Amino acid sequence: MSTPRKLHIKSYGCQMNVYDAQRMVDTLAPEGFVETAQAEDADLVILNTCHIREKASEKVYSELGRLRVAKDEAARNGRAMQIAVAGCVAQAEGDEIIHRAPVVDVVVGPQSYHHLPHLLARARAEGRAIETEFPVEDKFAALPAPKPAAIRARGISSFVTVQEGCDKFCTFCVVPYTRGMEVSRPVARIVEDVQRLADNGVREITLIGQNVNAFHGDGEDGAPWSLGRLLHRLAAIPGIVRLRYSTSHPRDVDDALIEAHRDIPAVMPFVHLPVQSGSDRILEAMNRKHTAADYRRTVERFRKARDGMAFSSDFIVGFPGETEDDFSATLALVDQIGYAGAYSFKYSPRPGTPAADMQEAVTTASDTSRIMDERLARLQALIDRQQAAFNAAAIGKTVEVLFERAARNPGQIVGRTAYLQPAHVMASPDIIGQVLPVAVDSLERYSLIGRLAQAAQPVVSSRVPSAMTTGA
Ligand code: 5AD
Ligand code: SF4
Repeated sequence: MSTPRKLHIKSYGCQMNVYDAQRMVDTLAPEGFVETAQAEDADLVILNTCHIREKASEKVYSELGRLRVAKDEAARNGRAMQIAVAGCVAQAEGDEIIHRAPVVDVVVGPQSYHHLPHLLARARAEGRAIETEFPVEDKFAALPAPKPAAIRARGISSFVTVQEGCDKFCTFCVVPYTRGMEVSRPVARIVEDVQRLADNGVREITLIGQNVNAFHGDGEDGAPWSLGRLLHRLAAIPGIVRLRYSTSHPRDVDDALIEAHRDIPAVMPFVHLPVQSGSDRILEAMNRKHTAADYRRTVERFRKARDGMAFSSDFIVGFPGETEDDFSATLALVDQIGYAGAYSFKYSPRPGTPAADMQEAVTTASDTSRIMDERLARLQALIDRQQAAFNAAAIGKTVEVLFERAARNPGQIVGRTAYLQPAHVMASPDIIGQVLPVAVDSLERYSLIGRLAQAAQPVVSSRVPSAMTTGA
């Protein structure tokens, strides 16, 4: 066993990156690395980057500027600090990063995290190491499984990657270029992962993938399974009380997925279903492969199948050529759907994507920026109103909460509702890991404040094993 070395990982962007950061920690643990919260003390700093919008990738370079100072300071104290750039900026920009920021020792794309120990050694020997290929071997099979102590430390809710990459090629999006083509993991591997998490106290699983409902991994019977079928299999694992999945494409919502919401209580009635725009003209230019009416019909299918279904979405404003009429169609769609929440972004041209070459700006350059700001503000105001109304509707009701951890306020325990709203109650920490009914009294910003509505007994008892040695 080598002497302990300190590792600091800073993640930007999506849930996939949060999950990947944990996999990097698990990969480096056998090398003697332990995590530290301070970049300054670390022997290795990894920036796990995001390339989805311009601002996200620019942050990396300003962070590297700060790290240069920390690395120089460490060197003055006789300590070698290595700096690695991982994630989608690494994939997209490769050795450009080292030209722009020579402080970087290792550039590693998302498909190569299992090679990190080797890349760090190579950088020590040769000064630099870069790997942004899409290797042929299965990175998931090569990544070590997390240790029970690491799982327990991460709490009762966990992500599990079920597919990676995307073949949809929306014209604004870098994902098909940075994460590659869609690849689904075999069901047996996913079941093993979920079983291990369940055995170590995890109760809620969020299946993640850039286009998660395109999942078609090899099933236990050798045939490809849909996401709906996978959800059935995972719900049967003792200890798993909640299942979620993100992010879905409206086009890939099939009957099996709708039926999973109808038939499996553990599948939460809350779906992140990005629509991006409400205008068919813009949806077409975005290559979204669905119309606003298709999207509305899909939402209706979910709502018919399960009471209390709620939705969140992503929106882009100011896509090339977006007129006031197009934007009004987006506002109208938001009005019709009624979201529990949503993210909205100003369009940002990404190098190498088809939309980056679309010349039709909204109007002139300076006007474009003003119009985008104004549209973003209008859309966000509408979404904020819907979110506030959705949260306020919980007041006076009894809702089911999966308790996660002690809150900052002494004596309070915090959990989440089916709709991911934080909910606080005064209670014993024994309730952590249980789903219990909470009578909601009030709302503080985005958090529900309430009381346990009955003695601590799991309400989803059918799925909690009698011997609670496990969790999932
Ligand atoms: N500009 C602005 N927003 C974008 N997104 C993806 N690419 C871009 C871009 N070029 C948004 C989409 C997507 C979310 C993850 O990020 O709304 O759903
Ligand atoms: Fe990007 Fe999502 Fe479109 Fe795939 S479906 S190209 S990840 S926006």
